[in-house]
Amino acid sequence: MIFANLEKLPPDPILGVTAAFRADPSPDKIDLGVGVYRDDHGNTPVPAGVREAERALLAEQRTKTYVGPAGNAEFNERIVELALGPVAREVRDRTATIQTVGGCGALRLGAELIRASRPDAVVHVSDPTWANHEPLLGSSGLALQRYPYYDPATRGVAFDRMRDHLATLPSGSVVLLHACCHNPTGVDLDPDQWRALTDVFAERGLVPFVDLAYQGFSDDLESDVYGLRLLATRVPQLLLAVSCSKNFGLYRERTGALAVVAGNAAAAAAIATHEARTARRMYSMPPDHGAAIAARVLANPELRALWESELQGMVARMKSLRALLADRLATRRPDLDFSWVTRQRGMFSLIGLDSAAIGELRGRHHVYVPPDGRMNVAGVSESNVDRVADSIVAVLG
Ligand SMILES: Cc1ncc(COP(=O)(O)O)c(C=O)c1O
Repeated sequence: MIFANLEKLPPDPILGVTAAFRADPSPDKIDLGVGVYRDDHGNTPVPAGVREAERALLAEQRTKTYVGPAGNAEFNERIVELALGPVAREVRDRTATIQTVGGCGALRLGAELIRASRPDAVVHVSDPTWANHEPLLGSSGLALQRYPYYDPATRGVAFDRMRDHLATLPSGSVVLLHACCHNPTGVDLDPDQWRALTDVFAERGLVPFVDLAYQGFSDDLESDVYGLRLLATRVPQLLLAVSCSKNFGLYRERTGALAVVAGNAAAAAAIATHEARTARRMYSMPPDHGAAIAARVLANPELRALWESELQGMVARMKSLRALLADRLATRRPDLDFSWVTRQRGMFSLIGLDSAAIGELRGRHHVYVPPDGRMNVAGVSESNVDRVADSIVAVLG
């Protein structure tokens, strides 16, 4: 039996919560675990601008022949422009971009490239980080280490410790940064901190690997990439993993890109050949549909304006849910400070409960969060916020 050595694995920490939620027959169950945006009705909509683009694409498309390992060239160009803005033009000749299988594909492909060039490189990830970062990057064979990031006492960034730690790393160390909406903490760097951090990267010769999975989900498409653009102007090389899952609502279309900004044009040309070969050896080519849709949205001013206004609506909703939840928690426990709920950004916050309390939330209150306590604020709604607040307060002790 060729597979006799494969034993059953424990459930994935995040996907396992979804499975447990589905299996719970309680009509009152609430899912704060899953990492997708939800509207007032609990649905994850396809933005109208994206649907329009898809309709037009289907009406016009006459072939589904192969595109090639680098995927949709127009998408690659436009998605880098969306992320880097005016800086994209400055670094254009030394940027090698490949369309990937979602943001996960970009992270993994980036790790494979680093390993092919420098097998002994260490990738430093924030403590904590998204539960899938370490498996995705580590499976390439690269060594991983953690740097200080979150301070549970202040529920903010442990910035001094982060900066001092990064300032001790050897030149050439790769550091994975979340561009915005840090997953799982919701805690981001402010512009002053980005400037100070960029100095450290430039002075120490560190290589940023920026994960951009939530552009437009914190405040807006421009301010969310302040730090990324600053880094791209100040450091000679950078890796950027983009996901279109959340902001375009293209989750299952698996749409993303890896852009590598290299020291010079010749290096970028060489990197492009390695990107294509790595993709060819793993999965050959990325799926086209989502990338063709996103390219169309970005290229068409009307569709783009429609999409941007819908994105603004999603952000406004997440901010108002945060305000609502903070208010309901504070009403129940005026002795505690819940201002962190509104200070944090994007969909996630760490709820700050131990595993017994998280088990009790699930077992007694039918409120589902993953074992690390990452709460998806988009799972809260006007109709369930009181139950969410009651349940959290009940397990706080
Ligand atoms: C921090 C972070 N990076 C990357 C991704 C990748 O997303 P996808 O592969 O679905 O595009 C996600 C998705 O949840 C994420 O939260």
